Amino acid sequence: MKTGIIVYSHTGHTKQAAELLLDSLRARGRDCELLEVTVSNPKPEANASRIQWTNKPDVEAFDQVVFASPVWGFSLSGVMKAYLESLSSLKGKKVSLFVTHQLPLPWMGGNAAVRQMKKICEDRGGQISAHAVVSWGEKRREQDLAAMVSRLS
Ligand SMILES: Cc1cc2nc3c(=O)[nH]c(=O)nc-3n(C[C@H](O)[C@H](O)[C@H](O)COP(=O)(O)O)c2cc1C
Repeated sequence: MKTGIIVYSHTGHTKQAAELLLDSLRARGRDCELLEVTVSNPKPEANASRIQWTNKPDVEAFDQVVFASPVWGFSLSGVMKAYLESLSSLKGKKVSLFVTHQLPLPWMGGNAAVRQMKKICEDRGGQISAHAVVSWGEKRREQDLAAMVSRLS
């Protein structure tokens, strides 16, 4: 069973969280790799319809996929939205999801972003197995990160 963690991270938080998950999965003996979605747009939040991909990972080789993204404007980041929408099929794959955001509570953008990710993945045949919302605010960060790693490991 091969797991791919596919992360988009603009300022590094989501990648940091994904690396914690990678370490946890590997410590449990899972065959796992982390791949980054990258773009060359200087302001990717400004024009999600004109994304210039510099790395667009292929999920074909994975039985299980974790998608991770920041929240932008109380919603899923435009880059992850465009990336997920570009996938032709997730049929037969177990899919887990997490997002990071700044505000303290999950309903301040995190839950909505997860709902968007679920819908796009389910429309492509993915079977959602777990999800988590991580607040990067100082009060919640450590506990939310631990809960995400535990839920998705
Ligand atoms: C364009 C933009 C919009 C954002 N909108 C929100 C928001 O609606 N709610 C929130 O809690 N955080 C928001 N944030 C903060 C990010 O979601 C948060 O810092 C996240 O952890 C960044 O992840 P990254 O470092 O992986 O890019 C926004 C950040 C940016 C750059």
